[in-house]
Amino acid sequence: MDIIEGLKTRRSVRRFDTTKKIPRADIEKIIAAASYAPSAHNTQPWHFVVIEDREQLVALHTLQPWTAFAKDASCVILVCADTEVSFHREKESDQWSYADIDGTLAAYGILLAAHDLGYGACFCGAAPMPLVIEKLQERFGLPANIRPTAIIPLGVPATPNAKVNDRYHAERVHWEKWSD
Ligand SMILES: Cc1cc2nc3c(=O)[nH]c(=O)nc-3n(C[C@H](O)[C@H](O)[C@H](O)COP(=O)(O)O)c2cc1C
Repeated sequence: MDIIEGLKTRRSVRRFDTTKKIPRADIEKIIAAASYAPSAHNTQPWHFVVIEDREQLVALHTLQPWTAFAKDASCVILVCADTEVSFHREKESDQWSYADIDGTLAAYGILLAAHDLGYGACFCGAAPMPLVIEKLQERFGLPANIRPTAIIPLGVPATPNAKVNDRYHAERVHWEKWSD
């Protein structure tokens, strides 16, 4: 699929054909493609937890309330970033980290790669919600330095993607400086 076509036709998919499963080879292909995402200082701090266990998928909404539809997914990929590996600053007066941004870029790669292979996916937030991070770390045994960025249910879409209105707003493009 052409990249611009893929960017425009990808949609969040929340209804899955529960009779079909994504083969592990395709899950690996999707993660491999997403691993080419950009990251600050090229640290590539990603980890991916693949969850196929139905009980875990059904219970996911108890950790993040807007993921109830994951119960019907073929799997969930929990995209995480290692905060010790990601580019960061720890000075008292200057504290920041690119972990969430790096994780989000890999997550977007997963959405697009899944779309290219004909699968449906949806980005569900984790970081920066502290309670959600804590619950995910506890449930899936993530070390403290492994910060979950996105919960991505994946599966075979139950229906074709809906078309959306044009999202490009020329008036929001400001050439050289802000203009009304
Ligand atoms: C940071 C972030 C968090 C999101 N969290 C959720 C979520 O918890 N549950 C959900 O169903 N969708 C979630 N979404 C998906 C958005 O609702 C969706 O991308 C948006 O409605 C636009 O639709 P589209 O992806 O089909 O273009 C999230 C998206 C982003 C970027």
